[in-house]
Amino acid sequence: MTTAIYGVGSMGSAILEALAGGGEGEVLAVGGRPESAARLRERYAHLAGVEVVDAAPAAARAEVHLITVKPYSVAGLLEEIAPSLRPDSIVLSLALGVSLADLASGLPEGTAVIRGMPNTPAKVGVGMTVLSPAAEVTDERLARVRELLEPTGRTLVLPESQQDAATALSGSAPAYVYLVVEALVDAGVARGLARADALTLATQAVRGAGAMLAETGEEPTVLRAQVTSPGGATAAALARLEAHGLRHAFADAVTACADRSAGR
Ligand SMILES: NC(=O)c1ccc[n+]([C@@H]2O[C@H](COP(=O)([O-])OP(=O)(O)OC[C@H]3O[C@@H](n4cnc5c(N)ncnc54)[C@H](OP(=O)(O)O)[C@@H]3O)[C@@H](O)[C@H]2O)c1
Repeated sequence: MTTAIYGVGSMGSAILEALAGGGEGEVLAVGGRPESAARLRERYAHLAGVEVVDAAPAAARAEVHLITVKPYSVAGLLEEIAPSLRPDSIVLSLALGVSLADLASGLPEGTAVIRGMPNTPAKVGVGMTVLSPAAEVTDERLARVRELLEPTGRTLVLPESQQDAATALSGSAPAYVYLVVEALVDAGVARGLARADALTLATQAVRGAGAMLAETGEEPTVLRAQVTSPGGATAAALARLEAHGLRHAFADAVTACADRSAGR
């Protein structure tokens, strides 16, 4: 299968590298500014199966089209590729806030359109992409896209009305975790740890807690209780986090993110 990726910035490069690492099929990379093509050719020269091409030839050759340009560039890009798209094309847009209706209005009738929200851990194969297919997309075509994205991590199909909440809990969420790690590292340094050691400890704590959640299937409340002896050190830390309003801060952050995603 041939996949075109339009826009090879943070998100596009994360997906491209995962797909190329997966070794299945051919990936066509389409950059933005004219000078970007040379930079992309140099950057991906070592990856077999990746070719840097212009938008129109990519549109004519690929079966699946991943749109990873900024939301304000989507309409112009669709205008550029629409005349060359094959009739059996699947267009998956990963642009924040661009609706299925916006996408369909810029594409030939009958194009299978899917809106998605990815996150950057796709680069290391542990990403999450929330997919909302248009009503006409068959189960078989959706399954092909999910299979294509397998090297990037997991996929979850949700109705389009839940895309803004998905952005807040998935697309943007790695940034919240990085902020928590930064805060832990600073606090560890204040307690006398070397910065590199503090980063190793905080990174492994996040990795281990994530693996426990994913692999045991336990509720976070249960796992937290297992680390929290009555009157102990962890209980003291958790009480301070609660007193500082951690839950409220996350609830407020998620609302702000989902509202921004919805354009409010
Ligand atoms: N970053 C994330 O964590 C994340 C998470 C979820 C969703 N997204 C979505 O992913 C999309 C990209 O975000 P990003 O953070 O990756 O942005 P980015 O780093 O700025 O990348 C955008 C890329 O698009 C290229 N571009 C611009 N116009 C183009 C065109 N007409 N054809 C082909 N390429 C074009 C730019 O290339 P030039 O520099 O050559 O112009 C740039 O490399 C956005 O819609 C965003 O909502 C991002």
